Amino acid sequence: MLKEIMEQPDAVRRTLEGRLKDSGISFDNLNLDTKMLKNLSRIQIVACGSAYHAGMVGKYVLEETLRIPVDVDIASEFRYRNPVVNQNTLTIVISQSGETADTLAAALQAKKQGSYVLAIVNVVASSIAKMADGVIYTYAGPEIAVATTKGYSTQIVQLYLLALLIAEKLETLSHERISEAIESLKLLPEAIESALKEAENIKKLASVTNSDNSVFFIGRNIDYAVALEGSLKLKEISYIHSEAYPAGELKHGTIALIEEGTAVFALCACERLNEKMLSNIKEVSARGARVIACLSDQSSSIKKEVQAVIKIPKTDPLFTASTEVIPFQLFAYYTALSKGCDIDKPRNLAKSVTVE
Ligand code: AGP
Repeated sequence: MLKEIMEQPDAVRRTLEGRLKDSGISFDNLNLDTKMLKNLSRIQIVACGSAYHAGMVGKYVLEETLRIPVDVDIASEFRYRNPVVNQNTLTIVISQSGETADTLAAALQAKKQGSYVLAIVNVVASSIAKMADGVIYTYAGPEIAVATTKGYSTQIVQLYLLALLIAEKLETLSHERISEAIESLKLLPEAIESALKEAENIKKLASVTNSDNSVFFIGRNIDYAVALEGSLKLKEISYIHSEAYPAGELKHGTIALIEEGTAVFALCACERLNEKMLSNIKEVSARGARVIACLSDQSSSIKKEVQAVIKIPKTDPLFTASTEVIPFQLFAYYTALSKGCDIDKPRNLAKSVTVE
């Protein structure tokens, strides 16, 4: 898993390769018909686990750039809720293995209901890749550890590229904004390398938190989507219970669980919401929480209100998930390592869930 965490800058370079042209975004043999795109009433993302969390990042990025409603569903829920999907729905299915049973079944159902099914997968010629109307491969290389890292990181980059491609076709972003975003994407591998340099700080944090029996991850907007992934990483390899929560929602019940010493990670890469995050941090601190903030803005007044800070590099506001997820992958890894867990093959888990 550590090898795959460290491979992410190169995996992102590979997933970007050949898709960032001077003329804009291009995917080989993906023909998204502009007429179909212009008739879209909504986009439906369907996936499981970390791929679902990547889809949550995609929701914020696609809605921000396309101004089209985006729904994200867990595949096992989607397929049994008689979903309203038709020829005016673009269905995006995300799967590292391309073999997850619930995601495959959901994709087949969406296709049967007339939706264009676009697959974002890592394994070439996998079942989901073969059934989809269009396929975007992530080219992350083989991912062996059960807990995905480079698979997730390359999925979200493909969602960024897809958003910019459709924004070009629908003219929902200016050429200047698209060029600016493309320049930021070119710098993403280096930004991820910079985030990886926090490893020693994260290792220290893990040694303090490995005895906790519950850890909270709170955030807003894309930070909430990353909180979901950070929480799952910790649970699946260190077996410590954790929960990701929209920071603004805590006061509606869950804050009752915060007590003296409870570890709370406050994800604050979405800088325009940091004032709101500051009040959420004060809410949990007032109840005794030990707050660790993940910050891209090192001048933020949040620093004075927390016990520890994880620094991440600034990136384009659309792409903050790519740098912010890194410390939480490392945190899960070092926590599991300090507990002596079997990190690459965690108990009860399989790399690809090919059964319902
Ligand atoms: C993530 O670390 C887990 N291994 C799991 O949640 C995984 O993301 C999920 O099972 C989906 O797998 P897929 O991407 O191969 O469809």
